[in-house]
Amino acid sequence: MSANTAELNYAGKTYRFPIVTGSEGEKGIDISTLRRDTGLVTYDSSFQNTASCRSSITYIDGEQGILRYYGYPIEEIAGRYTFVETAYLLLHGEFPTKEQRAQFSRKLNEYSLLHEDMVHFFDGFPRGAHPMHILSTMINALATFYPNVDLLSLKEDIDTSATRLISIVRTLAAFAYKKSIGEPMVYPRHDLSYCANFLNMMFNSPVKPYKIDADIVDALNLLLVLHADHEQNCSTTAVRVIGSAQVNLYATISAGISALSGPLHGGANQEVMNMLRQIQSRSETVDSVLARAKDKKDPFLLMGFGHRIYKSYDPRARIIREMCAKILDKLHVRDPLLDIARELEEKALKDEYFVDRNLYPNVDFYSGIIYHAIGIPEDMFTVMFTLGRLPGWIAQWREMVQDKNRKIARPRQIYTGPALRHCPEPHR
Ligand code: SDX
Repeated sequence: MSANTAELNYAGKTYRFPIVTGSEGEKGIDISTLRRDTGLVTYDSSFQNTASCRSSITYIDGEQGILRYYGYPIEEIAGRYTFVETAYLLLHGEFPTKEQRAQFSRKLNEYSLLHEDMVHFFDGFPRGAHPMHILSTMINALATFYPNVDLLSLKEDIDTSATRLISIVRTLAAFAYKKSIGEPMVYPRHDLSYCANFLNMMFNSPVKPYKIDADIVDALNLLLVLHADHEQNCSTTAVRVIGSAQVNLYATISAGISALSGPLHGGANQEVMNMLRQIQSRSETVDSVLARAKDKKDPFLLMGFGHRIYKSYDPRARIIREMCAKILDKLHVRDPLLDIARELEEKALKDEYFVDRNLYPNVDFYSGIIYHAIGIPEDMFTVMFTLGRLPGWIAQWREMVQDKNRKIARPRQIYTGPALRHCPEPHR
């Protein structure tokens, strides 16, 4: 048997399937003809062993703790390239030239204004509505105001719609925050960079002008870059599946936002802060939190720990952990939650339950400490994850819709229900 085929022996027959090899040498069995040849389907709940697509955007090696966007290591991008430059890389496969970046920035500025009729939508949400629900709703509603992405004319549409989404998501997020605190909305400005504009829309006020701090802008750029893409995670899979039915881009992204809001996914960054605060308030201790996380009878999980792919330290968490102290020092912020987080990490990484299961801090474990230091309220933490992940979702969606072999996503199942039976007379 060659190294390029896999053999399956079933019911007295031998079947051969080709081995596909990725550009980093990872291998998979191409079972595209499995059911036709054998009558079998595979069973892999939660797709733990299943590659759903071929993709050239992001590469992760979970054992080595490697993350690269189009081959560039995250460690070289973070802190060196802005989020706008990284978004351009994800959308186009290369970093922008000076002119391309200027053009992209002009477009981002041009598309930053929300249609004035949409501003009134915010009046309809109840006070206290979670900003992720507002964001998912408003992004979906964009399709009623702006031309949907016409799959037949992808080029100009996708660039326009992608740029509009990446720009306007800031405005929507900031407006949702201002609405939640009863302050007047602050409109985007043409003279501010991507992150500075967002911070200004969030924190400027008629009675207390917001002074833009370059260190805070740098910290936000770093965090958004680190969240920009992560291959076939739960929300990206949702985007690909929904998009495969030729749903317009806005509705597709709205579904991604909903998936990301889950506490096991992007919602974990807010849950980490809740967990740290419980320890700070002495309603929990580090040891009691670890004991609960290990207790199979307790549904509690150590938030910000563990990962489906990383069975080593999440490289993004390592960068954020290192940046935490520097950024808090620069901002002259002292946050006791950072000390608690470090104590929690130190004890967990010495505890055999976590060591045996390869459970390490993930991107959500320390990110909230920095968001908190730059003034982002905790119920906006997952919104920040959305701002970062948006270009990645769009890039993955575009790769899927531009695949000439694309088909609507429709997995099989293993049926476990009742065998054939006939309806009883209705109980009248
Ligand atoms: C993100 O996929 C991505 O790329 C996601 C993401 C991205 O950028 O898009 O990286 C962003 O979602 C990061 C993850 C944020 N979520 C959390 O921090 C929530 C806490 N983590 C867990 O829910 C969990 O670790 C997951 C959801 C992240 C991963 O779930 P898996 O793959 O089902 O976990 P596993 O199969 O590796 O678990 C193995 C064992 C199990 O115990 P046993 O059955 O072997 O006894 O480890 C246990 C799990 O119960 N376990 C945990 C744990 N995570 C796994 N036990 C306690 N606390 C945890 N956090």
